[in-house]
Amino acid sequence: MLHEKIAQYAAEIKQFAPQSQEDAEAFRLKFLVAKGVIRNLFEEFKSVSPEQKRTLGKDLNELKLAAELKYKAMQEQFAASQATQKVNTDDLTLPGEGFVIGSRHPLSLVRKEIVEIFKKLGFVVAEGPEIEDDWHNFTALNFPPEHPARDMQDTFFIKKQDGNDIALRTHTSSVQVRMMENGQPPFRAIMPGRVYRNEAISARAHCFFHQVEGLYVDENVSFADLKQTLYFFVQELFGDGTKVRFRPSYFPFTEPSAEMDISCTICKGKGCAMCKGSGWVEILGCGMVDPNVLENCGVDPGKYSGYAFGMGIERVTNLKYEIKDLRLFSENDVRFLRQFETELI
Ligand code: DAH
Repeated sequence: MLHEKIAQYAAEIKQFAPQSQEDAEAFRLKFLVAKGVIRNLFEEFKSVSPEQKRTLGKDLNELKLAAELKYKAMQEQFAASQATQKVNTDDLTLPGEGFVIGSRHPLSLVRKEIVEIFKKLGFVVAEGPEIEDDWHNFTALNFPPEHPARDMQDTFFIKKQDGNDIALRTHTSSVQVRMMENGQPPFRAIMPGRVYRNEAISARAHCFFHQVEGLYVDENVSFADLKQTLYFFVQELFGDGTKVRFRPSYFPFTEPSAEMDISCTICKGKGCAMCKGSGWVEILGCGMVDPNVLENCGVDPGKYSGYAFGMGIERVTNLKYEIKDLRLFSENDVRFLRQFETELI
């Protein structure tokens, strides 16, 4: 009889004392699912006589409510005890979570990588001042006064009353001059640093950027040495299989001069937006140090020869990380900066 069944289940629900989450689940499966006890009782209820329906309907609804409330209580009970259990099982002797103190700037990462590669070949690192005079930035490097080559680089000048104008260096080639003036050959150094040019800021140009200059001066240094060094550098930095080509060019401080392209690292030479469809991207200027420059810096061009090269760190970084807007490097947007190597303390 339905009446007895309801009373029996009501007692069972009341007495049910779950020990675990599994017990609670068993309860739900028994009473509350579509094919569970309560639904079945409602099915049976359909066929009782109309007189019985009144009292039985009420009992049945109460039973349903009792089962639902019981199950809700169980859920709360186990959720709470799970939380306390978690606290109890935490290993309080574990070290705390480190917090992020920042990340290296992509230009610093690439500069470091470039320096490491040249160190393998015995190059040392040298630096020079960012505020330069005309001699070190231009004249010693074989840019005669009024020479149109000076216009190749728009310079920030400060005119001084005494005529000794000063400038923000436009390239790191000025450090070559200082190095040769202050030492004796052989010289084998790379010179990373910031340079400045009077350019409107856009995605492709900035008023300051970074270069790495290279210089090797010794007896019998040849263009073959230059090519071999740069070839090694490219394989190390961009990976085996990166192709290299040299195009004749002009710089006042080197003779002969060349520009070096590498096969586009993004499309692997097929042609894309980065290489403007050509499959090649220019990465540096280079050449044999002009004898006039050696002489200007007190090095005997009869005895010594040398090569030099200069590359933009931004350019190399753009290729490595596919960064298309130069402004990102100096805007300090942490969403950009956090994408690079991160340090924890
Ligand atoms: N100083 C040149 C520039 O800023 C780059 C350069 C070209 C440096 C050729 C060199 C070199 O040492 O040999 O565009």
